[in-house]
Amino acid sequence: MSQNSKEKGKISWQSPSNIALIKYWGKHGNQLSCNPSLSMSLNSSVTITSLSYNYKDKDKNIDLEFLFDGKRTPLFEKRIGNYLNNLLKEYPFLAEYHLIIDSSNTFPHSSGIASSASAFSALALCIMSLKKICLRDMDQKEFFQEASNLARLGSGSASRSVYGGYTIWGKVEGARSYSDEYACPLKSAIHPVFQTFYDAILIVSGENKKVGSSAGHSLMEKHPYAKSRYQQAMNHTMEMLHVLETGDLDRFIKIVENEALTLHGLMMSSDPGYILIKSETIEIIERIRKYRQTQKIPVTFTLDAGPNVHILYPESYRKEVIKFIEDELVELCDEGQWIDDSIGRGPQMLNIQ
Ligand code: DP6
Repeated sequence: MSQNSKEKGKISWQSPSNIALIKYWGKHGNQLSCNPSLSMSLNSSVTITSLSYNYKDKDKNIDLEFLFDGKRTPLFEKRIGNYLNNLLKEYPFLAEYHLIIDSSNTFPHSSGIASSASAFSALALCIMSLKKICLRDMDQKEFFQEASNLARLGSGSASRSVYGGYTIWGKVEGARSYSDEYACPLKSAIHPVFQTFYDAILIVSGENKKVGSSAGHSLMEKHPYAKSRYQQAMNHTMEMLHVLETGDLDRFIKIVENEALTLHGLMMSSDPGYILIKSETIEIIERIRKYRQTQKIPVTFTLDAGPNVHILYPESYRKEVIKFIEDELVELCDEGQWIDDSIGRGPQMLNIQ
């Protein structure tokens, strides 16, 4: 056991899911994105993970029990086990302990919300806290940068969940502060209208995806539109930085909707092509656009890699938009389910023993 290490203890972190405004779709090398992506961290859709560690001895293997909602889950255990094994060279202390990871989400399991972003960011933060105990102390900036890098190795979008507010993952032309290895909070000032934004997540279907994100990303490798897509994402990111600073809601809506529909257009035009949206997804989009036009309320939508619709809107229209959802959209949701979420402040350490 290294000098500073403790024999046993428990670390818990809560970390949010995020919704990408500029999408990461296509990767290369060791979990590097082909274009920059920009997201908003959520407030109430979070994963809570605790890492219990108990000294065993220094053999070479990870010794892990993984529980989801308190129950042992072999499928996740294998994925997390592989992830930790790949980290051993840089984090050898992980093999010194018997590890129990216990994870749960605040959003329903059947909601179709991608949990890999919140799950891997929460786990990466626990590993970083253990590193601080076993190896050395570090400042906040280094801690979160390294946590973001670690989270990225588990799931690309997770790199953006270690911060609150708006974050960018990937180098951006003309902006030196962003990196391909880890995400960063936006460096520019955010206009007040975007500081208190809301995200209503309409659950169209909670079914498992027919084509997972990893398979989808790899279909980009031979995609005929890949090159222009990556350039488009770069242009959108640069423009979005300006939009978030100036509060230009019209441009915001145009870029966000274009990104969502481009993502699904890329899936449909892959080889093989596939469709994740459902007829209800399209009906919801049509109704949002009609409502925006007739009511002159700046409400917009985005989509993840699935059929659910994220409705994004400023705080000042909260009452109207909730009424619109309840009167016109809930009937299109699976069992009427929707999640009332908003921009969040990022992860929180819950406990360290
Ligand atoms: C459509 O981060 O789930 O949500 O790195 O393979 O785990 P892996 O992929 P993942 O991809 C997310 C894709 C997306 C867009 C986004 O969040 O940027």
